[in-house]
Amino acid sequence: MLVLGIDTSCDDTSAAVLRAPREVLSNEIATQYDLHAAFGGIVPEIASRAHAERITLVVERALVKAGITLDDLDAVAVTHRPGLVGSLIVGVAAAKAVAMARGVPLVGVDHIEAHVVAAMAEHDDLEPPFVALVASGGHTSLYAVRSEGDLACLGATIDDAAGECFDKVAVLLGLPQPGGPSVSRLAVEGDPAAVRFPRYRAKDGSLSFSFSGLKTAVLYFLKGPGGKRDAPDREDLGVSHADVAASFQRAVVDVLADRSLEAAAREGARDLVVGGGVAANRELRRLLAERAPEGLRVRFPSPALCVDNGAMVALRGAQLLAAGRLDDLGLDVSPTGRA
Ligand code: KG4
Ligand code: ZN
Repeated sequence: MLVLGIDTSCDDTSAAVLRAPREVLSNEIATQYDLHAAFGGIVPEIASRAHAERITLVVERALVKAGITLDDLDAVAVTHRPGLVGSLIVGVAAAKAVAMARGVPLVGVDHIEAHVVAAMAEHDDLEPPFVALVASGGHTSLYAVRSEGDLACLGATIDDAAGECFDKVAVLLGLPQPGGPSVSRLAVEGDPAAVRFPRYRAKDGSLSFSFSGLKTAVLYFLKGPGGKRDAPDREDLGVSHADVAASFQRAVVDVLADRSLEAAAREGARDLVVGGGVAANRELRRLLAERAPEGLRVRFPSPALCVDNGAMVALRGAQLLAAGRLDDLGLDVSPTGRA
């Protein structure tokens, strides 16, 4: 069964072809970094217009790279939640057009659930039950995959996403976007124990995350209470920007690693999968490797499957179709992710 997967939930236009259950034949991504760079963040109207201009070409490229045509497709899967509403609409409209024109089934996919199962495309031996951490610029969530049909969210951020926090701290430190890579590059030269930044833990013992307090702590540290001091510089305390970067990074990855291992322990999982853009972070990989108990395998999908991509959507779509889930042309988008 050949499944076309489409994702336009945020600022990447992506399409992929998967031979079910797990073989990725193509995975095309058109990024929009250049279009949003001048604005210091993603501009939703620009994102949806760019998706509309690019989606046909990206789908065509995915088909050509897979060596197939629209006629060969057996199903279409598309992200319909959560995300930017105007962006989601473009992908869903494209998917409906293909499904209607070719008379093939259409299935709507939850973007986070797609991230959660993405690693299965690269690891044939990865089977439920497993636990997944998805950490990117838009989400920070822990899931238990008890079976392909039973994905349970164990906890999510109550405010900022981990990657978003890296991006905001990069602005405070005068570093370029995306903030994750630039903060972690600077952190290599710094002392992670120089400043003890706060680490959130939910009072009710749940596995939720929070990063806005940490972001504010970095702001106040650099610019004083209220964030008003002009020079974002604490050389006066003998603490360099590299020390701040390293201490901040340690605070984020400490929490991500701890909560993920706690989730894996609670679920009795054999595998912990880490996905999303923040999975590229070396310090996170190092801490997880160091702290993982014997018997727990920590797995990181390759970068193309960590970032937003169509292959993970096709994979999740194939799983839903196999379980008999099917949508019709009335499929709607849900920006918040609620059904
Ligand atoms: O998954 P992704 O490419 O896009 C979405 O957010 O959907 O994730 C991008 C996020 C950005 O916030 C970026 O700063 C962060 O992932 N990121 C990192 C690293 N590389 C990318 N964060 C920490 N360390 C990294 N090495
Ligand atoms: Zn994503």
